[in-house]
Amino acid sequence: MKPREIRPKVYCVGAIDWDRRLFDALIPLPDGTSYNSYLINGSEKAALIDTVDPTMPDVLINNLNQLVIDNIDYVVANHAEQDHSGAIPQVLGKYPKAKVVCTPKCKGMLIDLLMIPEEKFITVNDKETISLGDKTLEFIHAPWVHWPETMLTYLKEDKILFPCDFFGSHLATTDLYVTDEGQVYEAAKRYYAEIMMPFRTNIQKNLEKIKGYTIDIIAPSHGPMYDKPKLILKAYHSWVFDEPKNIVVLPYISMHGSTHKMVECFVEALVQRSVIVKQFDLTVTDIGKLAMALVDAATVVIGTPTILVGPHPNVAYAAILANALRPNLKFISIIGSYGWGGKAVEQLAAMIPNLSVEILEPVLSKGFPKEADFKALDNLAATIAEKHKQSGFA
Ligand code: FEO
Repeated sequence: MKPREIRPKVYCVGAIDWDRRLFDALIPLPDGTSYNSYLINGSEKAALIDTVDPTMPDVLINNLNQLVIDNIDYVVANHAEQDHSGAIPQVLGKYPKAKVVCTPKCKGMLIDLLMIPEEKFITVNDKETISLGDKTLEFIHAPWVHWPETMLTYLKEDKILFPCDFFGSHLATTDLYVTDEGQVYEAAKRYYAEIMMPFRTNIQKNLEKIKGYTIDIIAPSHGPMYDKPKLILKAYHSWVFDEPKNIVVLPYISMHGSTHKMVECFVEALVQRSVIVKQFDLTVTDIGKLAMALVDAATVVIGTPTILVGPHPNVAYAAILANALRPNLKFISIIGSYGWGGKAVEQLAAMIPNLSVEILEPVLSKGFPKEADFKALDNLAATIAEKHKQSGFA
């Protein structure tokens, strides 16, 4: 796709990756992604904001060739992760006078990751500016959106915020700006859940930090741009500041039907008490959908059979993932079955040290669940409904 002008002398020059289906060898990308890069051709100097994934440098270089830019003075690296920094070496090869502009921490990371020579860098402090002549870049340090070195770049005259990962969405689209708000909201929430949720408190601070800026366009480095920034600002505000909702997320596995029967009965007991349930069979679940459900949930109940004295490995994987994503959960419990004993509960509890949750009495059935087990599940559902009510989770 050719470069597209989004404001006078400001161009979108990145790459769309329609076919990528996995990120970080972990995160499913059902709708592909994009690596957005922006060229700002000021009256005196030119700056490139972020580059592209190391698999697609030719797309970026081809776009820059089409713009017939004689020189790039600054390559702004908002973030060191390779999907944005990976083509910096190629850009420096084509424009040898260019300097990489980044935070001091980012400089160290880019030297480590890409072996960029030290003399190629200019580091910038928080709120420092660089003039391109008729356009001015302001750099806003914003740690932990997504790594500790991240910053945002604000183009003052055009009121464009370039936040790299922050506010992004893994969405391959030819739309320059958001057209289908529902689709982008969903993709951005998935992105938040998978990438940003562990840093919720840092994001709260960074949202406060950009409050004073007038922003006409948010131009992230994944997904379409926001020409109505309110959509994504409001969504992020809700995801990081709101209390959890009256929702139970129930990831489970069943090998011979016992745990499944318990899940069925438990879900019914919760629904009867007006608790919303999001149930995920971990043998087929897209973990992105599970992560999204965790954004709003007050409670997780894990359903697992006992296998080799512990939880099913897929359940252990989901627990480790939830622990890493640090959702704003308040309660957790475990239900499931066993044949002759085991330590599924103790092992799962040890896998979630990052979650500050109250652990509610687990319900474990020896073999197929019986009357007493169904009663215990009903009690657990009643406890959860009451706890949600007492906490004011609507
Ligand atoms: Fe899109 Fe943290 O990289």
